[in-house]
Amino acid sequence: MCGIVGYIGEKEAPGLLLDGLKRLEYRGYDSAGLAVIDNGRVKIKRNEGKLEHLERALLRDPLKGKVGIGHTRWATHGKPSETNAHPHKAGSIVVVHNGIIENYLTLKRTLTKAGHTFKSETDTEIIAHLIQSYLFKGDSFEQAVRNALKRIKGSYAVGVICEDEPTKLIAARNESPLVIGLGEDEWFAASDIPAFLSYTRKVIFLDDGEMAVLSKKGVKLTSLTGKKVPQKVTTIDWSPSMAEKGGFKHFMKKEIFEQPRSLIDTFGGRIAGGKGTVFLEDCNLTSQDVKKIEKIFIVACGTSWHAAIVGKFMIEDLCRIPVEVDLGSEFRYRNPLIDEKTLLLLISQSGETADTLAAMREGLKKKARIISICNVVGSSMARGSHGVIYTHAGPEIGVASTKAFTTQLAALYLLALFLGKQKGSLSAEKVKTLIKDLVRLPHQIEKILEADTTIQTIAHQYMNYRDFLYLGRGINYPIALEGALKLKEISYIHAEGYPAGEMKHGPIALIDEKMPVVVLLSKGVTFDKIMSNVEEVRARGGIIIAVTPKMSKSIDSKADTVIKIPENNSYLMPVLFSIPLQLLAYHIAELRGTDVDQPRNLAKSVTVE
Ligand code: AGP
Repeated sequence: MCGIVGYIGEKEAPGLLLDGLKRLEYRGYDSAGLAVIDNGRVKIKRNEGKLEHLERALLRDPLKGKVGIGHTRWATHGKPSETNAHPHKAGSIVVVHNGIIENYLTLKRTLTKAGHTFKSETDTEIIAHLIQSYLFKGDSFEQAVRNALKRIKGSYAVGVICEDEPTKLIAARNESPLVIGLGEDEWFAASDIPAFLSYTRKVIFLDDGEMAVLSKKGVKLTSLTGKKVPQKVTTIDWSPSMAEKGGFKHFMKKEIFEQPRSLIDTFGGRIAGGKGTVFLEDCNLTSQDVKKIEKIFIVACGTSWHAAIVGKFMIEDLCRIPVEVDLGSEFRYRNPLIDEKTLLLLISQSGETADTLAAMREGLKKKARIISICNVVGSSMARGSHGVIYTHAGPEIGVASTKAFTTQLAALYLLALFLGKQKGSLSAEKVKTLIKDLVRLPHQIEKILEADTTIQTIAHQYMNYRDFLYLGRGINYPIALEGALKLKEISYIHAEGYPAGEMKHGPIALIDEKMPVVVLLSKGVTFDKIMSNVEEVRARGGIIIAVTPKMSKSIDSKADTVIKIPENNSYLMPVLFSIPLQLLAYHIAELRGTDVDQPRNLAKSVTVE
């Protein structure tokens, strides 16, 4: 999730672009750059690292010009570096981009064959070359952008300037946000409102497939086919701080609501539903490598460890490979039985968690094959592993992990399909069905998010209880752990997650009318068993909050509160169960007035052992 800013008007662009990028820094960045047109010539400045490096470079060597584009990068393809930083230039075209181009390898091959040479590892650079190729064929700047974007598959928000037509700035979007700011004789384009909120509150939100041509004459809004689009101007009344959170009160809430998008970005470009194939290039695992794997260890901490347990269920059932799960803080002290026939899978949002990095070193020492599932490109774990599966959740600012967790589950699901296909334990037909279920997930999450106010009301009812128990069975047991962790880490209420079958071996002593018990009920072999756990709780006066797919009616008369969710296959139910539990924890914490985004005593990434 990168930050884009574009400007055209009467003021000097560099300062405005930099100011706009600073207001988008919550979107995360590992490099930044800007380009301006000065007397018909494009000047570009890019730096790896934080925005202040670019700022210092501009102080040393200022740029000037009244048309420009700027970018802060959250790397998805290609490590953080000056070469991979945006803007990217090809001929007279300069581009900044936010999103993921799913067919970039195909386009890159075609353009290379046509004589284009590429400097970066990014998917973005092909956009500049594609537009240039149309310009070269005689298209106008505007037509060249249209024709190029029609060939792009995937998500994009782009800002484009052209040396040959220096009085225009083009902005276009498909599935990645882009907003136009209408100032006094000046116009802005940005991936989010805070970039120019101090200059104007009048905005036009671009929709998918729309393109805006900004010039000193104003804004021309069309579809990619060139058809005029009516301009719907909105006046923003958010405070700058609220604007940074996209209108949400907290980053955590924003990130919970980003999950349909982050899931699409994570599986987009990695599945061929029609063929029943999963592509995990960066894993660097050949079918021979897969055949050599005798055992898998999954090692992680905290929420990522909960994902690891779900991953065990997925991989053992779909691939028939034995899986052990370990906590990062324990793994290296138990002299684990790993060797070159072991696949060591590390899961970490930050890619910097000290205990999980220590597990990586242990694995390297014992010659295991190491793959990491990370959300930060170029993180220590990603660089130290033999292969990586990046989650494309974008920067997760809230300390309590939400979208990173569900995209980890999606990455594990993709890995299970990939390994199962390679090993022959999954037919192409079976993979096709499982891919179809994955593609349904984002819309199903949107349906759950529509119940946000209902869950807020439920949170109000339970916000003053002092202890919670979360119960789940099988692949949903780690979601009971995760739901309990979400509640305790942001609301400071004590909560425990347990395998439902374990309740009678001790925790049942806790049950009374002061103990809400959240029960995850999904259809399957253990449904009846977990229903009897519900009866055991009720018989002791416990309070039941049931989370269950729509069709299981039998719980309605037995629970105090029922949260209904859509149904998917058993491997993906953990994703759907997670959403209401995230919202329940969020609303209880918000009602209790705790610091939801930065809870006491916690850090976003625990880089110490
Ligand atoms: C998640 O809500 C917590 N903030 C924490 O448990 C986190 O999952 C853990 O520290 C691991 O972090 P990582 O995924 O960056 O390795």
